[in-house]
Amino acid sequence: HQARVPYDIIGGEKLEQLVDVFYTNVALDKELAPIFPDDFTETARKQKQFLTQFLGGPPLYSEEHGHPMLRARHMPFEITPTRAKRWLACMEQAMDEIELEEPFRSAFLERLTQTANHMVNTME
Ligand code: HEM
Repeated sequence: HQARVPYDIIGGEKLEQLVDVFYTNVALDKELAPIFPDDFTETARKQKQFLTQFLGGPPLYSEEHGHPMLRARHMPFEITPTRAKRWLACMEQAMDEIELEEPFRSAFLERLTQTANHMVNTME
């Protein structure tokens, strides 16, 4: 049998829901919305691919886009500590909305917090 990975615990359908609710929140956030495109379709599609592999599922992002190099891909945008906090707040709100369960929720949020902090490239 296959070893269980975090991706198996959340499941593909719930992960897609999470990403859709997350970008709905981002679109309404005054700090974040200005640096995102008006249409989130492609952004959400890539994020679903990325988070699938981030959680140990199939490497969908890398198959289509190559190495994630996330920090480099975020360099065109001013990622301030405030924006990192807002990104995480939008994610927490999405987790609440889809009723993501513990202990998965906290473990996932912890990894996202580390990644978000690593994306910061602009000081206020
Ligand atoms: C792309 C902002 C953190 C994963 C983007 C884009 C922006 C952005 C503006 C470009 C959207 C587009 O043009 O489609 C931010 C901000 C963050 C943050 C403000 C706050 C720290 C993260 C984190 C992750 C992540 C923590 C992963 C866990 C991605 C991915 C893409 C992306 C996979 C698509 C890259 C591509 O074009 O292939 N982000 N991001 N971001 N972000 Fe973030």
